[in-house]
Amino acid sequence: MCGIVGGVAERNIVPILLEGLKRLEYRGYDSSGIAILDTEEQIQRIRSLGKIKNLEQKIKTIDASNLVARRRDDQNFQGKIGIAHTRWATHGVPAENNAHPHICNNRVAVVHNGIIENYQQLKTQQLEQGYRFTSETDTEVVAHCVHRELVNVINNITLSNTTSVSPNVTPTVIPSEAEGSPTDNTQQQKILRQAQDDSDLLLQAVTNALKHFEGAYALGVVATDDPDTLIAARKGSPLVIGVGIGEHFIASDVSALLPVTQSFIFLEEGDVAKITREVVTIYDVNGEQVERPVKISNLTAHAVELGEHRHYMHKEIFEQPQAVIDTLEGRITQDHVLVSAFGYEAEAIFKTIQQIQIIACGTSYHSGLVAKYWFEDIVGVPCQVEVASEYRYRNPVIQDNTLFVTISQSGETADTLAALQQIKLLKKVKNIPTLTICNVPESSLTRESDLTFLTHAGPEIGVASTKAFTTQLVALSLLLTAVGKSMSLMSEEQEQKIVHGLQKLPGLIRKALQHEEKIIEIAQCFAERESALFLGRGTMYPIAMEGALKLKEISYIHAEAYPAGELKHGPLALIDEHIPVVTIAPHDDLLEKLKSNLQEVKARGGQMIVFEDEQSNISSEPGFRVIKATTNVGRITAPITFNVPLQLLSYHVALIKGTDVDQPRNLAKSVTVE
Ligand code: AGP
Repeated sequence: MCGIVGGVAERNIVPILLEGLKRLEYRGYDSSGIAILDTEEQIQRIRSLGKIKNLEQKIKTIDASNLVARRRDDQNFQGKIGIAHTRWATHGVPAENNAHPHICNNRVAVVHNGIIENYQQLKTQQLEQGYRFTSETDTEVVAHCVHRELVNVINNITLSNTTSVSPNVTPTVIPSEAEGSPTDNTQQQKILRQAQDDSDLLLQAVTNALKHFEGAYALGVVATDDPDTLIAARKGSPLVIGVGIGEHFIASDVSALLPVTQSFIFLEEGDVAKITREVVTIYDVNGEQVERPVKISNLTAHAVELGEHRHYMHKEIFEQPQAVIDTLEGRITQDHVLVSAFGYEAEAIFKTIQQIQIIACGTSYHSGLVAKYWFEDIVGVPCQVEVASEYRYRNPVIQDNTLFVTISQSGETADTLAALQQIKLLKKVKNIPTLTICNVPESSLTRESDLTFLTHAGPEIGVASTKAFTTQLVALSLLLTAVGKSMSLMSEEQEQKIVHGLQKLPGLIRKALQHEEKIIEIAQCFAERESALFLGRGTMYPIAMEGALKLKEISYIHAEAYPAGELKHGPLALIDEHIPVVTIAPHDDLLEKLKSNLQEVKARGGQMIVFEDEQSNISSEPGFRVIKATTNVGRITAPITFNVPLQLLSYHVALIKGTDVDQPRNLAKSVTVE
């Protein structure tokens, strides 16, 4: 999804903005842009389609005549205040004219994440007012609206100053100049400068403009009329302020700003911030000035660097043993799970619940599906799992005493957040405690839930989720135990078995990672294939779903997952020697059933790739390539461990196909729009 970075400093802001944009690349984007106020306090903007390096190249080679606004010299593209953006197209195709920042009358520049839902209506009004549009985006209405409000604020100031300043200054008719045209009345600007010290021109203009918008936004705004001020606003899309010494920044997430600061203010819903070099002033949704705490991030700039790995996805797959250790730390003892890991009131809450509803999207949804098997099989607690995009738009029946669990790597997924918000309305009449399992502290889901469990996977940059999924499963196994214990549905022996299994998990994952060479060989089978099937039974069915999602997401090979027992009800018709069938075969109660399903595939000439437990004893033979991926995994550790070779398989198939592994086409890391 789109990414915002901005800042106001005593030094040239352009390299900081560019570095920030690079650090937001992982979110997924199709174009980028940057706008600064130059040394003459004029807006200069450069935008580019494709990768940030294109933008960087343009900046390097920029010639004064290429700049959007008038230039009076040939100085470089430099300024001490600016905003920048990576765009992931929602309204309007990926194109340079649709890239942000959007500017109005060379006076206002805006970057925006989210969607202005009433933009058509605003656009119609603005066209009537004489504004011209140069893009198909919803964001351009924001630039025009701020401009109009700015002019209104200015008019009020000039009106109250006209008698003493100049008889020639009259209230302004909203100008309708196109981009690149001269700026408004200079005499008026002079008057404004005089009044500016004791007014908040841009803050007032943006605050007034926000009243017109329906939908979601994170905004960064600069204007020539108030050249030392950067305005940030948030509603429905995340935005953080980076606090420096004599400089301040904004960004969609902390990773963008780690090279310049580790101190952050997390804006809350409805907040508007006036940001200058020296001061950050925040106003809440009611317009009241508020203090928001400055939090120190324990992430370092290094945490989001690639190191020796060719791709973030590869790095993150190999970080999984450590991610599990970090997620377990402080949450378990030698033999026990600490219920308080879910919050000090967790035990009291868990005692009251009768069922669980899990809501998530994509990979996070798959972790929820694994948990359903665990909750119902191991502790007998009813558990429903549904994708958020469906749940939020139907009228689900939710029982009293349901624990409502959202799972999300980013904590910003719009559908998941909307489902949670919908449930919060019901909390007045029903006991529906909410818990989020999330990887990003201070994200929207963590702020809106009663209980939070942070997975400590560290920043996940690859669009394809890997270590976040693994740590979500760890978190869910802890939740299973915490709920089971609190409800007296789990024996001490069962708890110990789970805890001891989890303690072995980092070692099991390391062992699975050692099979990379064999997986590279197997990946060759997929090079010319257009489709693949993934089969599993029990908890291996959601793992098969996750394997299929990973393969299609990064290699663009069509892949589908089926419960192995369902083959004969249709998908068997697809089987021939051209379709690889990936199967996960743990040594469990369903193994013999699974073996029979595999024979059905073999009899139709299917080419099978089987990831098995050493004890499963499926032998390699024509049509069967068997990898002994693990040994002696338990009920909880099996799905987590077997998922690892599937991640590596997708990764190596994608390498062979030459796709953009970390930023696959059309996808975004954090899906903050519907
Ligand atoms: C996973 O590989 C995907 N990129 C995607 O399905 C992701 O899991 C989904 O968008 C949910 O994201 P979240 O966990 O941040 O809510």
